[in-house]
Amino acid sequence: MDFQLKTLSIAQAAAEKTDALIVLVASQAGTSKDALSALIAEARKAGDLPDKAGKLLSLYRPPGIAAPRVLLVSAGDGKPTSVRSAVTAAVNAAKAANPKRLAIVFAGAVDAACLRSAVVAAADASYVYTTTKSKAEPRTIRQLVFGVADSAAQRGAFDQAAATVAGVELAKEWGNRPANYCTPSLLADAAGKLAALPRVKCEVLGPKEVAKLGMGAFAGVAQGSAEPLRFIVLRYQGAPKDQAPVVLVGKGITFDTGGVSLKPAAEMDEMKFDMCGAASVLGVFRALGDIQPAINVIGLIPSCENMNDGRALKPGDVVTSMSGQTIEVLNTDAEGRLILCDALNYAKRFEPAAVIDIATLTGACVIALGGVRSGLFATDEALASALQAAGEESLDRCWRMPLDEDYAEGLKSNFADVANIAGRAGGAITAAKFLQRFTTDFPWAHLDIAGVAWKSGQAKGSTGRPVGLLLAYLLGRASSDNAKTASPKARKARKTASAK
Ligand code: BES
Ligand code: MN
Ligand code: ZN
Repeated sequence: MDFQLKTLSIAQAAAEKTDALIVLVASQAGTSKDALSALIAEARKAGDLPDKAGKLLSLYRPPGIAAPRVLLVSAGDGKPTSVRSAVTAAVNAAKAANPKRLAIVFAGAVDAACLRSAVVAAADASYVYTTTKSKAEPRTIRQLVFGVADSAAQRGAFDQAAATVAGVELAKEWGNRPANYCTPSLLADAAGKLAALPRVKCEVLGPKEVAKLGMGAFAGVAQGSAEPLRFIVLRYQGAPKDQAPVVLVGKGITFDTGGVSLKPAAEMDEMKFDMCGAASVLGVFRALGDIQPAINVIGLIPSCENMNDGRALKPGDVVTSMSGQTIEVLNTDAEGRLILCDALNYAKRFEPAAVIDIATLTGACVIALGGVRSGLFATDEALASALQAAGEESLDRCWRMPLDEDYAEGLKSNFADVANIAGRAGGAITAAKFLQRFTTDFPWAHLDIAGVAWKSGQAKGSTGRPVGLLLAYLLGRASSDNAKTASPKARKARKTASAK
């Protein structure tokens, strides 16, 4: 889709040639004498445009306005969350008339955060999945114009939002694909294509290399599937080489049957979404290639299927992880942590400034936080607050969860160093405690996105979350002094150089 930013006052918007015009009206928007403002004032006076975000008033060929369809929509208090509700409601309503060109203007001032939220919400509401439909009906909206009072002042925010949308949509595409169109090899091909972007490199390891690295936990999960595993390593270099990178680790289970600890049949199809963590990493790299921020980022994606087969792991099997720790696999459905623990161990070699894993890890997290906020676990306070702030800024929110040592109690095993499950209680936290054992060498955060990565029911589909959160975090880091911290090795090298 073509996104455009344009200088368009509310008076100029009346003359804008477009199939449909959406006017966002915040409660504090002032009044002036042009045709649109007059309409808004009249509608408000008559009580036809209540001051609640998302309330709509549809007009057809109103006098003095070039667009045949005009949607006045209340943006409530004008804050980003309200702008999001307003844009979502208005774009959903406007879609009914199949407009090719849609313009969205703001009655009143807009800041960067509101513009970003409008762009992301408009893209979200107009997204259509087509890949496996025989008669694809793609997005009818070809052009989306955003009208603001001063387009030059908003250019940076707009470009960042457009790049976020490209990343979110790549994540949605791979999340939505059924597992037979999204195997570990196909996911690796998608990552390989990202290497065409400036400063992005991609390397893909297969079963032999993974065995050689000693990733026995990851290989153990993969051994029950006919599809070969892939370990994807993406690199984005936007800062000098000696600057310590942020490592993103995305869970890439392209289908989770549960293995021998088989899942129930109902809604098992949704386990095609079990690679949404991986998809979010791909989405972030897509956007990094566009925005080109001054930061170094590594993306690691362990990807395989969790299948039931003659060679599959059995409950009670013990695997040896790359870290050397042995793991008793008491439940083969707790496979995410098994593939992640080896990827987290692999992350050490980058001497990272921070490692963040993103995973559809536990049903328990869905129970705890629902589809609103991701679960955030962190061993580092600064990293935790930065991620929380990034979540608020991008409206892709998370909520901090505890990591008390007491929660690790249930992971004890009589036959290995650790078991891969504890009891049912606190399941999202015990899963995080398992992962934490593999993260002692760096500041670490874990995002459990099981509740937010996709929607069920009629609106079934990937959300592209938490691409927005991760990008906000990385861009914040790129523009702060924080980002200038070099890796320990580089710091040492510099010290010795200056001593000479
Ligand atoms: N991919 C699932 C988690 C999941 C389940 C996400 C339902 C969203 C909806 C994960 O691999 C899993 O099966 N976890 C188990 C862990 C349990 C066996 C300790 C779970 O949450 O039931
Ligand atoms: Mn599972
Ligand atoms: Zn899973």
